[in-house]
Amino acid sequence: MTPEMSTTAAIMVMARNLPPKAFSFLSTSEWILHSEVERGQKAFGGRFLAITMIAAVIIISGVIIIDKVPPRHHHSHPPPDNYTLALHKALMFFNAQKLLPPRWDKKFSFVQVLLNRLRLFLSPGHPAEDILLILHRSSEIMMCSYLPVFTSFNRTKGGLIQLNHGRPQPLQYVVNAAFLATLYSDYLEAADTPGWYCGPNFYSIEVLREFAKTQINYILGENPRKMSYVVGFGNLYPKHVHHRGASIPNNRVIYNCKGGWKWRDSPKPNPNIVVGAMVAGPDKNDEFRDVRTNYNYTEPTLAGNAGLVAALVALSGDRTGIDKNTIFSAVPPMFPTAPPPPAPWKP
Ligand SMILES: *[C@@H]1O[C@H](CO)[C@@H](O)[C@H](O)[C@H]1NC(C)=O
Ligand SMILES: *[C@@H]1O[C@H](CO)[C@@H](O)[C@H](O)[C@H]1NC(C)=O
Ligand SMILES: *[C@@H]1O[C@H](CO)[C@@H](O)[C@H](O)[C@H]1NC(C)=O
Repeated sequence: MTPEMSTTAAIMVMARNLPPKAFSFLSTSEWILHSEVERGQKAFGGRFLAITMIAAVIIISGVIIIDKVPPRHHHSHPPPDNYTLALHKALMFFNAQKLLPPRWDKKFSFVQVLLNRLRLFLSPGHPAEDILLILHRSSEIMMCSYLPVFTSFNRTKGGLIQLNHGRPQPLQYVVNAAFLATLYSDYLEAADTPGWYCGPNFYSIEVLREFAKTQINYILGENPRKMSYVVGFGNLYPKHVHHRGASIPNNRVIYNCKGGWKWRDSPKPNPNIVVGAMVAGPDKNDEFRDVRTNYNYTEPTLAGNAGLVAALVALSGDRTGIDKNTIFSAVPPMFPTAPPPPAPWKP
């Protein structure tokens, strides 16, 4: 089974087996934006979580790449934009990490936005439509909440949205929101829809892309400290990243867990540059302490970098939009086709 097929299979199961009532809690945007995992467990149980987890993982690995990196024929090579440059670095970090048990905290919003694709491009109709419409509406509310005009979230003076309400390690949430906003704008564009409504007000899809760009630009260095939070991008980036591989010198000695602590606690810069790692990020005052022991500022995570890679793929290069068909091309029909009529009776 290809990744596209298993994603779609997971979506079909979700869209077909769950009664609309199961989604009634979605009427508040709170649910989506705050603690998906806890509430999700109550609402759905293990099977649904397993499905969303599969779908979320595949969104990162499948959708983005399928959507945004179609084979293209370049005749000339204009200089790469900042997002493309940063993407090359971000992929270095992401590819270099061993596969660890993933902790995908923000699964539901991803699945929800992906389901918009199903509704917009396949129009599966009854019985999926009721649920897909509810999910579409709650994606719209989520997108509205990102806009500065609604002040659903505070922003730092430098403009970084505080999706985790001023708590440390903000960037992992910001990059995922930037990715979702860009993907959603691509979906609307592919469906020839110029924007969406927040209450009585109509907003153009450009507003969503602008949101994503300002947030990613902040992370790449357009912030009061002029600090890039992606290691190896720009001139000023964290030098004391909270990361074993970066902080322990390569001297052919194998150190056990506690054996690494003397480097963790050392004030010296990392001996190895962990290119492409996005650190946890600044605090709510745009302040950043480049201190290895303080994971609140300097720790990179796979979940954060997955979102960064996704957002940079979505923003980088020419704006080609998405391929409406690719992800669904291998999908079997939603209902089994009727068996052929029996051959006419003959004596
Ligand atoms: C915004 O910041 C104020 C002051 O710190 C705080 O009281 C409020 O709860 C914050 N709002 C949100 C949505 O995080
Ligand atoms: C790329 O980033 C640099 C540093 O933040 C900035 O000066 C420059 O304007 C950016 N270029 C583009 C095309 O956004
Ligand atoms: C990280 O932030 C949390 C929550 O604000 C705080 O409780 C903790 O002490 C901080 N850790 C360090 C090392 O400062």
